[in-house]
Amino acid sequence: KTIYLGAFAHCVALAELEIVEKGAIGVDEHGVIGFIEKEVDVEDVRKRHEGWNDAKVVSVKDGFFFPGFIDTHTHAPQHPNTGLFGKTTLLDWLDKYTFPMESSFSSLDKASRIYTNFVSRTLSHGTTTCAYYATRHVEATNLLADICLARGQRALVGRVCMDTLSPEYYRDESVESAVRDSKACIDYVRSIDAEGSIVRPIITPRFAPSCTAPCLAGLGKLAHEADAFVQTHVSENTSEIALVEELFPDSKSYTHVYDEASLLTPKTILAHAIHLSTEERKLVKERGSKISHCPASNTALTSGCCPVRELLDEGITIGLGTDVSGGFSPSILEEARHAIWTSRFVAMGTPAAAASSLNNAAKLSTAEALYLATRGGAAVVGLEDKVGGFEVGKEFDAQMIRLGSVPEEGDKEGVFGEDGAGGPVDLFGFESAEEKLEKWMYSGDDRNCVAVWVRGRLVHKTTRYTA
Ligand code: GUN
Ligand code: FE
Repeated sequence: KTIYLGAFAHCVALAELEIVEKGAIGVDEHGVIGFIEKEVDVEDVRKRHEGWNDAKVVSVKDGFFFPGFIDTHTHAPQHPNTGLFGKTTLLDWLDKYTFPMESSFSSLDKASRIYTNFVSRTLSHGTTTCAYYATRHVEATNLLADICLARGQRALVGRVCMDTLSPEYYRDESVESAVRDSKACIDYVRSIDAEGSIVRPIITPRFAPSCTAPCLAGLGKLAHEADAFVQTHVSENTSEIALVEELFPDSKSYTHVYDEASLLTPKTILAHAIHLSTEERKLVKERGSKISHCPASNTALTSGCCPVRELLDEGITIGLGTDVSGGFSPSILEEARHAIWTSRFVAMGTPAAAASSLNNAAKLSTAEALYLATRGGAAVVGLEDKVGGFEVGKEFDAQMIRLGSVPEEGDKEGVFGEDGAGGPVDLFGFESAEEKLEKWMYSGDDRNCVAVWVRGRLVHKTTRYTA
């Protein structure tokens, strides 16, 4: 049993952050939150909670505990391509960078090195749950699930299906093999974690252009039979949308292509969804499918600015996705910043219109972006009852954030930290707790994330972690 003592913050509703300066979170031996106190000292807590007398205490100094981040969309095998996109857009980017890299994961040795490295990397940024695309390769995909389970990172792990319109060196031979191999990965992931408490399988048709209608239908059938999650891309880029119209002339829209294959369920995660029509949004809402908003990738590949405020107002469940390597950072904190930025570009509209007709309603606040990064993401991956915030009965997935400034010679470890990041905090002594959080939001990075827990298990720590 452990008592996490000190400040904590989390989102209690879309636009509402709760910040507790003198908190205590009691976590039992199963990683479940047993009590939360909001105005305490530790001896007091021990006295009041019977059975917690010999609990270990982990205190946070000059910082706070925050729920672990949830990445609802990323591509682990694209990690080596981080930052490589030049001036490409989606379809030529796939051909130039993505397919050649992914096809090389026929090498298990390479998969092992890169997946280990990427899981470490996402954990170091406070990502406690991640929805991963792997590649077409069954063994390498299963290896990614092994790594996530061993490291203790919650994950949805998907074998990518693509039986058409991809290079001949990198595609499924047939509908049958695509479905069979997908099923093999589902069975494997369920064999190593029967309850799905850490790793779960996810059916992953790459996107409509790279799957034939029978392949999509086969995967839709499998999703229902196996009661499994589904992830895919939708409405990311205008050339892609035109291609889908050409390939599926009888379908009403891109989104309808998935619906006709029974792929839109409450367990479906649709990435991007930038250019959806009103009717498509309605269909997504009706089916209860979720959206992964990937603003960094959307700007890098110049795909567009997703109007997130409108989707939220329509009641669609949304989380954030780093979409590495369309996106160039594995950090959900960075992604939250991009979500705020994109919302401001939507607010400004076209440059000519900006000065006269600023649409303030479109802007996301810090609280809203952090909500998408935690509680929103939890709902996208079906874990809204387990993670995303601090409540009795939820599991303790958290990061210890420490603030600080670059140390001057002679400074002792303490307020100044040993490797400051996240703004010059407490140097001038004027910030409120809310302002410290704002500074972290806009200028923090992985140096601030000094320790990470999943279900109460310490899964990452740096030298600044002093328990
Ligand atoms: N659409 C199909 N495949 C991909 C991919 O790997 N990344 C992104 N961003 N979009 C895709
Ligand atoms: Fe993607």
